[in-house]
Amino acid sequence: MAISQLSLTDFRNLKSTTLEFDRHLNLVTGDNGSGKTSLLEAVHVLCQGQSFRTPHLKECIRHDASGFLLFGRFEKFKVGLARNDKKLEIRVDGRVIHRRSDLVRKSPVNVVNADSFVLIDGAPARRRAFLDWCLFHVEPSYANDWRRYQHSLKQRNRMLKTRQDLKLLDYWDQDLVESSARLGEMRRHYTTRLHDIVQEHYLELLTEIPLAIEYQQGWPEQDTLLQCLAKNRERDIRSGYTGVGIHRDDILLTTRGKKVGEVLSRGQSKRVCLALFMAVLRMVDDACGSAVVLLIDDLQSELDNRGQKLVYGELAEMKIQLFISNIDDSAPTGIPAKEYKLFHVEHGIIKPRNFS
Ligand SMILES: Nc1ncnc2c1ncn2[C@@H]1O[C@H](COP(=O)(O)OP(=O)(O)OP(=O)(O)O)[C@@H](O)[C@H]1O
Ligand SMILES: [Mg+2]
Repeated sequence: MAISQLSLTDFRNLKSTTLEFDRHLNLVTGDNGSGKTSLLEAVHVLCQGQSFRTPHLKECIRHDASGFLLFGRFEKFKVGLARNDKKLEIRVDGRVIHRRSDLVRKSPVNVVNADSFVLIDGAPARRRAFLDWCLFHVEPSYANDWRRYQHSLKQRNRMLKTRQDLKLLDYWDQDLVESSARLGEMRRHYTTRLHDIVQEHYLELLTEIPLAIEYQQGWPEQDTLLQCLAKNRERDIRSGYTGVGIHRDDILLTTRGKKVGEVLSRGQSKRVCLALFMAVLRMVDDACGSAVVLLIDDLQSELDNRGQKLVYGELAEMKIQLFISNIDDSAPTGIPAKEYKLFHVEHGIIKPRNFS
C-alpha cells in the first residue's frame, strides 16, 4: 500500500519533519552519513514495525531522545508508531494493534541493499526468510500454519532440552508433521513458480547464466517427516533440539550443477539475486491488490549501468512504490519515470524537491 505522507520525530539523526511522497518514485540523495539510509529505514519501520538494519528498534531512537514517533498516511489507512525505551506501540487508524503481523500484512515492504546479496551464499535461513516473505503475502493461510509450526517446534524443543514429559513427544511430532505438510507444499510450489518466472522474464538480467532453483526439504527425501523424527529422536534428546523439519529447508541455487555462490563472479551472483527479487516482487505485486513498497539502498554501487537499466525498467511495469537512495543528485541510470520526488538530506535535514 503506497505511503502518501510520513511524519517523523527523533528517528536516528533525522530532523523532525513531515514529507509528502510520490506514488511511484522517491529519490533520496545526500553525502555519506547525511541520513539517507535512516529515511529508508523509517519507511520500513512504519510498514513493518521492524528495521532492516537492526533487530533492536531502540537503536533507532535519536541519541539523547527518549523515544521516536512515526506517523504515516497510506492510501486507505493511517499508521502511528511510537517506540520508547520500554515498548513499541502500533496504531492503525487510531486503534492499538497487538500483533505486528496485522500491520505487516497491510503494507508489504522489502529492501534491496548490499546485505541482500547474502541471499546467494549466506545461511539457508536467509533463503527461507526470502521465500516466506512472498508466501506470507500471497497465501492467506501461510501465517497461521507458520505460527502453529513454531509453537509445536518450541514445545518439542523444550521437552528435548528439559527431558521432561518425553512421553508427549509422539503428540508434538504429529502436530509438527501436520503444519509442516502444508507449509512444505506451499514452499515447494512457490519455489517452482520462482524458477519459472526467472526463466520466463529474467534471462537478460542473468546474462544467459543457466539457473536452477529447487526446493530442498529439511530431511532426506526418502523418508516422511514422521519417520525421520522417530529415527532421530535419540539424537534429538542428546542434542536438545529438533534436527530435522521444515526449519531446516533450503532453496538450492545452482548453475550447471554447481552452487551459484561457488562458481559465479561477485557481479553475476548479484544479478542472480536481483532476478530472484524481481520474481518474488512480481508474485506479490500480482497477488496484492495494492502497491508493494520497495526500498533500494545504494544499488548504484552494486550494479553496472546495464543491470540498473534492466532492474528499473522492470520495476516501472509493476504497481510498486519505490524509494531509492543515491549519493548523486541525478536519477540513477535507466529510471524510466518522467516524474519523481527528490529528497535531499544534509546532516539529517530533509529538503524535498519536485521533479518532472
Ligand atoms: N540513534 C541515532 N541517533 C542519532 N544519530 C544516529 C543514530 N544512529 C545513527 N546515527 C547517525 O546517523 C547518521 C546517518 O546515517 P545513515 O546511515 O542514515 O547515513 P547515509 O546517508 O545512509 O550514509 P551512507 O551514504 O554512508 O550510506 C550517521 O552519522 C550515524 O552515525
Ligand atoms: Mg546509507
